[in-house]
Amino acid sequence: MEEVRVRRRIVLVPVPAQGHVTPIMQLGKALYSKGFSITVVLTQFNRVSSSKYFSDFHFLTIPGSLTESDLKNLGPYMFLVKLNQICEGSFKQCIGQLLDEQGNDIACVVYDEYMYFSQAAVKEFQLPSVLFSTTSATAFVCRSVLASVNAESFLIDMEDPEVSDKVFPGLYPLRYKDLPTSAFGPLESVLKVYSETVNIRTASAVIINSTSCLESSSLKWLQRELQVPVYPIGPLHIAASAPSSLLEEDRSCIEWLNKQKLGSVIYISLGSLALMETKDVLEMAWGLSNSNQPFLWVIRPGSIPASEWIESLPEEFSRLVSERGYIVKWAPQMEVLRHPAVGGFWSHCGWNSTLESIGEGVPMICRPYTGDQKVNARYLERVWRIGVQLEGELDKGTVERAVVRLIVDEEGAEMRKRAIDLKEKLEASVRNGGSSCSSSLEDFVNSLKM
Ligand code: UDX
Repeated sequence: MEEVRVRRRIVLVPVPAQGHVTPIMQLGKALYSKGFSITVVLTQFNRVSSSKYFSDFHFLTIPGSLTESDLKNLGPYMFLVKLNQICEGSFKQCIGQLLDEQGNDIACVVYDEYMYFSQAAVKEFQLPSVLFSTTSATAFVCRSVLASVNAESFLIDMEDPEVSDKVFPGLYPLRYKDLPTSAFGPLESVLKVYSETVNIRTASAVIINSTSCLESSSLKWLQRELQVPVYPIGPLHIAASAPSSLLEEDRSCIEWLNKQKLGSVIYISLGSLALMETKDVLEMAWGLSNSNQPFLWVIRPGSIPASEWIESLPEEFSRLVSERGYIVKWAPQMEVLRHPAVGGFWSHCGWNSTLESIGEGVPMICRPYTGDQKVNARYLERVWRIGVQLEGELDKGTVERAVVRLIVDEEGAEMRKRAIDLKEKLEASVRNGGSSCSSSLEDFVNSLKM
């Protein structure tokens, strides 16, 4: 009789937010294809859909009752600290039960770096554990450096504009103001989370959703400093694309794109978390309209204060967007970026959006809001030279100029060439025998067999 091979189990612990769920599910898919069974452990505060796309995965939910209003009241960073406190015990119990049922075979626990409650369980049961970073390697380096920074002295420095424009020692070309400090809450709570997450002593390895052809020196820094193996298994959306959109995609925008000229459209999306001020939305609408380029704009419900969607915006807004614009609540972003009509991407520079844009050879207008987005924006403009960063107050003149530079001017054409060059390098790194992704995935899988 043919022997049925039992798949070894890998447990994934995602942060319940789109930008974190997407890459960890892609990683799960890559590992499933290497012969592992995948168990996803969710908290009760859940935004992960165990959809038909993941019917091969097992989903478990651990108790720990935090709500949307806790998120609103505490802010994302203190919310995460609380979630970690609440879930530590229930995760231990969950892993204990899995080990009882499954004859002690968990190959490893892969946890999002912000779900560090996982460490207590892996320590107790002596399991291999892997910290998964959904941001760039460079942002990871920044967090590691910031974890040892004194909040008070840092605050004083940051109040001086001359200091905030200076390059941070050792992190060229990042300036003080590019560092992931002004996240969603006060500096103290950001640094508290960093120092807790950076304590990776119990993790036996780190997986980063990146590749050496984008971030060679940051990856080398991590490999040198972290004292555990670092696997750059990225970009995961190319290595193992897996649809995991938490919102419904409006596909009518593809029909609209089909009617636009090649390379003429600016696509605007600020990811799943960023919020926009009404005055900025109006400046954007004016600038986009004045640029005379067609634009596809994702405005997420709830992203404009005191508005369900766009109903609170003045009449002027509808007039400005009606001629050349098309607005949706959520788009099939990968398909949009791949569309030949799209000439540029105005982005908040979340790491997934950044990788997706580079992966399609699309240059960017960078308007980062918070956290790691500012690091990515600086790299897009200064290191990869495929982006135009908008800094300071938004005004319609700056918006118009940025769109024209990117879509119409020779400067934009040069950026596009460099973006296509990077796209080709990324694809080569994902293909078998490529420089980074495929060999890192193999190395990681082999490490689990030892
Ligand atoms: C955040 C951070 O910004 C990011 O850097 C971090 O690594 C994870 O958390 P988010 O702000 O949502 O994520 O941005 P991003 O990382 O760009 O992820 C957004 C995802 O939503 C992308 O995969 C994008 O394709 C998808 N998306 C966005 C859509 O599918 N449709 C849309 O209309 C907009």
